[in-house]
Amino acid sequence: MAFTVAIDGPAASGKGTISKRVAAHFGLGHLDTGLLYRAVGRRMLDGEEPVSAARALVPGDLEVEGLRTAAVGEAASRVGALPEVRAALLDFQRAFARRSGGAVLDGRDIGTVICPEAEAKLFVTASAEVRAERRFRELVAAGADTRFEAVLEDIRARDERDMGRSDAPLRPADDAVTIDTSRLDVEAAVAAAIAAVDAAR
Ligand code: C5P
Repeated sequence: MAFTVAIDGPAASGKGTISKRVAAHFGLGHLDTGLLYRAVGRRMLDGEEPVSAARALVPGDLEVEGLRTAAVGEAASRVGALPEVRAALLDFQRAFARRSGGAVLDGRDIGTVICPEAEAKLFVTASAEVRAERRFRELVAAGADTRFEAVLEDIRARDERDMGRSDAPLRPADDAVTIDTSRLDVEAAVAAAIAAVDAAR
């Protein structure tokens, strides 16, 4: 039977790192579903209509360079508010979740909409300030010229859009285990996640 782990949470909560480490620890496949929305957002920035871009998406689109930029993240959050875009991306995510050998999917609505039957559900979060601080450090380390306040504003705007949309808003599933990483380092957060998944096996 396919074992599915659903990991949701806001931008820069640490869910990406945790998902990769959980997948490696248990030998499961991993899908960062944010990349699907980013790929559609990228195509929209290139002038394509987002719904047809979502319908035409192929796995190779997830490997395109430049999907991790702030501009593409912003575009992803806009196309993610469109119900028809979300519907077009549903089957791909569900098929991945059912792969033999099991899978970890991380995103915003995995435990609530995509895989409500997932064996393990985690909601990874942290305060907006802590998340902005992490994102700011990453950007500075990458040589970007930015201010902390601007990064915090972006994080808050993205939270508002992701939690406020009517279709599949970001929220923990009723049976999700919440891990607040505000005061945890990476190793402690990964250990908490692995323990929660172990408890569900
Ligand atoms: O996680 P990431 O920052 O890559 O996601 C980019 C945007 O894609 C999010 O802000 C969100 O609006 C959207 N998204 C979504 N549902 C998912 C994953 C991402 O709506 N499952």
